[in-house]
Amino acid sequence: MNFAEKMCQAAEEGGVLLKNDNAMLPFCTDDKVVVFGRCQFDYYRSGTGSGGSVHVSYSTNLTDSLIEISEKEKAPAIDRELAQIYRKWIELNPFDNGDGGWASEPWCQKEMPLSAEIIADAAKNCGKAVYVIGRTAGEDKDNRAEKGSWYLTDEEHDTLKKICSGFENVCVVLNVSNIIDMEWIDDPDFCGHIRSVLLAWHGGQEGGRAAARLLCGLANPCGKLTDTIARHIDYYPSSKNFGKEGDILYQEDIYVGYRYFSTFAPEEVRFPFGFGLSYTNFTIQVEKAHFDGEKLYISVKVKNTGKCPGKEVVQIYAQAPQGKLGKSQRVLVSFKKTKLLEATESQDMQIDFSLEDLASYDDSGITGNEFCYVLEKGLYEFFTGNDAQAAQKILVDGREGIFLEKNLVTKKLTQAVAPSHSFERMRPAADGNGGFSIQTEKTPVSKVDLSERIKSNMPKEIPFSGDKGIRFSDLLSGKASSDDFIAQIDDIQLAAMVRGEGMMSQKVTVGIAAAYGGITQKLRDLGIPAAGCSDGPSGIRIDTGKETNLMPIGTLLACTWNPNLIEELFTFEGKELVEYEIDSLLGPGVNIHRNPLNGRNFEYYSEDPLLAGTIATAVLRGLNKGGSSGTIKHFAANNQELCRRSGNSVISERALREIYLKPFEIAVKSGEVKSLMTSYNAINGHWAASNYDLVTTILRKEWGYKGLVMTDWWATMNDCVNGGKESIRKTGSMIRSGNDVYMVVDNDCAESGGHNDDIAESLKNGKLSRAELQQAARHILDFISISPVAKRKLRPLKIFKSFTSNQIQKPAGAVIVEEGEPFLPENGKSLYLHAAHDAMYNINGTYRKEGDDLSQSVTNILIDGENAASLECRSTAGLETTVNAAQVHLLPGYYKIALIPTKPGIETKQLVISSEVINPVTLGVCPM
Ligand code: BGC
Repeated sequence: MNFAEKMCQAAEEGGVLLKNDNAMLPFCTDDKVVVFGRCQFDYYRSGTGSGGSVHVSYSTNLTDSLIEISEKEKAPAIDRELAQIYRKWIELNPFDNGDGGWASEPWCQKEMPLSAEIIADAAKNCGKAVYVIGRTAGEDKDNRAEKGSWYLTDEEHDTLKKICSGFENVCVVLNVSNIIDMEWIDDPDFCGHIRSVLLAWHGGQEGGRAAARLLCGLANPCGKLTDTIARHIDYYPSSKNFGKEGDILYQEDIYVGYRYFSTFAPEEVRFPFGFGLSYTNFTIQVEKAHFDGEKLYISVKVKNTGKCPGKEVVQIYAQAPQGKLGKSQRVLVSFKKTKLLEATESQDMQIDFSLEDLASYDDSGITGNEFCYVLEKGLYEFFTGNDAQAAQKILVDGREGIFLEKNLVTKKLTQAVAPSHSFERMRPAADGNGGFSIQTEKTPVSKVDLSERIKSNMPKEIPFSGDKGIRFSDLLSGKASSDDFIAQIDDIQLAAMVRGEGMMSQKVTVGIAAAYGGITQKLRDLGIPAAGCSDGPSGIRIDTGKETNLMPIGTLLACTWNPNLIEELFTFEGKELVEYEIDSLLGPGVNIHRNPLNGRNFEYYSEDPLLAGTIATAVLRGLNKGGSSGTIKHFAANNQELCRRSGNSVISERALREIYLKPFEIAVKSGEVKSLMTSYNAINGHWAASNYDLVTTILRKEWGYKGLVMTDWWATMNDCVNGGKESIRKTGSMIRSGNDVYMVVDNDCAESGGHNDDIAESLKNGKLSRAELQQAARHILDFISISPVAKRKLRPLKIFKSFTSNQIQKPAGAVIVEEGEPFLPENGKSLYLHAAHDAMYNINGTYRKEGDDLSQSVTNILIDGENAASLECRSTAGLETTVNAAQVHLLPGYYKIALIPTKPGIETKQLVISSEVINPVTLGVCPM
């Protein structure tokens, strides 16, 4: 399989068939099918924001894919007349991208009105109808419990009603980034005619094709929900506190998703976690379950009892005794997907896991084991099946389960990242009828003296040696020790190293998110190359417009429940990264789906930490195999986009460890993580980028992480001991916390103090030591030495583009500007720069932009039609700002200059292009 085929396979396997009455699907060869809804053509590929910003060379939509299939294979006939009507209407009513601004794309699109005549005509020709409903959301844009986001719009409801009035067999395809309300399935307005629902998600560039193949039965749905679909948005226990500003209380504690519903409210579930239908049927039979005192070994036979080939997912859930801590009634402990089973074929599967995996974290000492993972005494029961509700009890060695006579401590830890103030959290209380009611209890608070903790864990300083002639290559070849190498680097260069630059740095592939490592001439002179990373997670984002592949969204990937497939997919991605000289993809994103309205859920995987951690590990393994790496993000508790930089996630230590940190822990402990990104938000008062307990106590010391830690872009930090006000300047506190790289400062500013951060002053006042900077430098160098960049030929600090003019004479009638003269190219007007001599030219741009200062955008500067430089344009809060876009090499002549902003709202005020004397040794000129 090639990359595209693998993407298509993944998009197929992640599609979840929620309903299929009367076996409406798959379509038969003699079916005549009509497709409604504009999204059949405007088929969404991915969510919005950095996670889906991939320039693709092609993409697929549902109807063209259906038509393609019907032409090539034995497949249903598609109503092309209506398809043509939709195409024409879309031409007149183009896709609304909210003017292309950052986070401005609406959640849904206007729908084509349907007349009774259209319906009647279609019904004359066709017996089955499909309606495609599309939704998007993303970074900086949460969903809302409103029509058009969580709910259907009136237009959509009306369209569906009309379709159902004309057709008895209606299939709804959900081309969505997040789960949405599903109550309409039973709406009497639709006369029971909605027979099938396919949750096709956003499947990347192959998504349309994959959905069409599923509908036609060329692939059999085998995706399973990674989230519970409840009957109402308010039933999710986090809904009460979701979307708040300031302190965001995680009062539901560990009772997230099915953990909550299985314990307190099974009747509120419409589609359970783990659910998904197939065109065939399976039986899952437990042959044997044996406990050897440590591990449980379960042998299962899965049989395809239906008529077509398919795959099934065996899910094992556990129920721990309530004990003193209180537990959820179901916890996913393991899962395995079968191979493609032919009709009547069966597969024997062995599933094993440790009982230890069921231990709970005692954050209050109530079990007598404060800050320990404890298996409380009592009966541990196990269930297997193909969703959280359907799973049936398993006997273990012929008994009800595993009975522990006394509490067993499985891990002794130290208190970390606990809340500073107590708040009420949820816990179950037996209701006397075999169920549980919700009680609350006070969360324990932090007793940690952070100042002491930090002091007792200071790294040792390596005395400064000055340049001893040791180069980075000596480190790579093992000729020199990293201590001796680092000893040569002075404070200024150490400080420069902990500042990543971007976006649009010329020191790496232009258009990617950041350059880090050897980004100053002095560091480069030591032989340290500059590493580069790009968004992610669904594909490589290159803002200059370079085309790369866009894979399905994270949630879809997780719905495959197929880590092997995901690993294969990301091996292709890893190879693509190497091809583009990129050392890390900014992903996977593994934050928990705490609430369905989080805009970035599409990048993330699940409400369940085991599933999220397992899929993330597969992603990373694939990227590593492909030769590059991933940067797992956003560490941690980044569960809403509203106030993403100012919100403080207030969470108990137990919920953090058992739910929100767990996917990271699983991935880190697998050994596949080389790079990690902290999140924007604060956790219990300490911003993630300067959260010592998060990054050092837990990640590095407890989990043994040796890799690199970077901040999210333009992150804020606060005092790592006292907390307090956050700011983008507190890089000293960031380093002290164990976070190695600040992302990002403006290009070429790392040596001169970044954005006037406090590293120098912290070194002076003792809030930061040279040893801590050296420790960060070591992590950065270690990362670089195992990255693709270490294998590439060391390139000059910057690669400049070189242009030769084909216009030596002054172009007649054109506007001419001389070097150093401010100018502004206008749309449609020819404007030429006169380069008087063979020299390097510096391009500076002045612009202003309103809006969120995290919004990302670019203006490309074209010289003679070629992309010469890119001006990174974040919001400037309305103020005029000058940035240095790039340097180019020009031979004498006249050059046509044009400006192409990639997003609206950027007001470029002027450009100045002037020649500069630059040390030619540093130049790497690449001819256009
Ligand atoms: C996002 C990150 C992303 C980074 C670089 C930030 O705004 O939160 O996920 O990797 O930008 O684009």
